[in-house]
Amino acid sequence: MTGAANKAEEIFRSLDRELWVVTSATQNDRGGLLATWVSQASLNPQKPVILVGLAPNHHTTRLVRESGKLAVHLLDTDQADVAWNFCRDSGKQRDKLANIDLSSHTAYAPILARCHSFLLGRVFACVETGERSYFWADILEAEKFSQSAPLCERQFLQGCDDEQIRTLKADKQGDIALQTKLEEEFRESIPEWLRLH
Ligand SMILES: Cc1cc2nc3c(=O)[nH]c(=O)nc-3n(C[C@H](O)[C@H](O)[C@H](O)COP(=O)(O)O)c2cc1C
Repeated sequence: MTGAANKAEEIFRSLDRELWVVTSATQNDRGGLLATWVSQASLNPQKPVILVGLAPNHHTTRLVRESGKLAVHLLDTDQADVAWNFCRDSGKQRDKLANIDLSSHTAYAPILARCHSFLLGRVFACVETGERSYFWADILEAEKFSQSAPLCERQFLQGCDDEQIRTLKADKQGDIALQTKLEEEFRESIPEWLRLH
């Protein structure tokens, strides 16, 4: 890595981002993943919008693309096991929601019955950049159940054992390997309306 890349990594590592469980479903399939790339994306409190950045190869990303709906949940600090359930492997292999209690009122975005809080969103725009699929969503529904701080990345990772950390690193390396070419292709063909200079 270059000096700047090393420093950038050090700066990013000094942050302690919230962890979100992003869920979505189609008529025949459902799933979810753990994400840090969830952000408030609107200034106007009357029209709340979120921007969510998902890896294009993830199972959950396909579900969001197809259904146009997603729910993002913050977890309580004693829900590290739930965070692990959503990041340890892909929903292409198993139903990650099988052992999770759901409050089942929304068809295309499963809501976890137990969480710190959640936002239910309807996607109105999507940009694919090779490395990420970015979804902008209007908030249709929101609930907050806890007054405490939510589970953040540092506490979660510090609670993982060596084997779990190895699994997460391998998953990340696999994603980087898959996405590098897609990202290069995107840079070569950025559409006019997205290009700056
Ligand atoms: C701390 C942490 C943060 C993560 N943030 C994101 C993220 O913002 N976007 C994303 O697509 N994946 C993120 N991941 C990776 C996914 O949670 C993971 O690859 C997941 O197993 C994908 O599941 P799926 O294929 O069932 O959708 C993160 C993983 C960890 C451990």
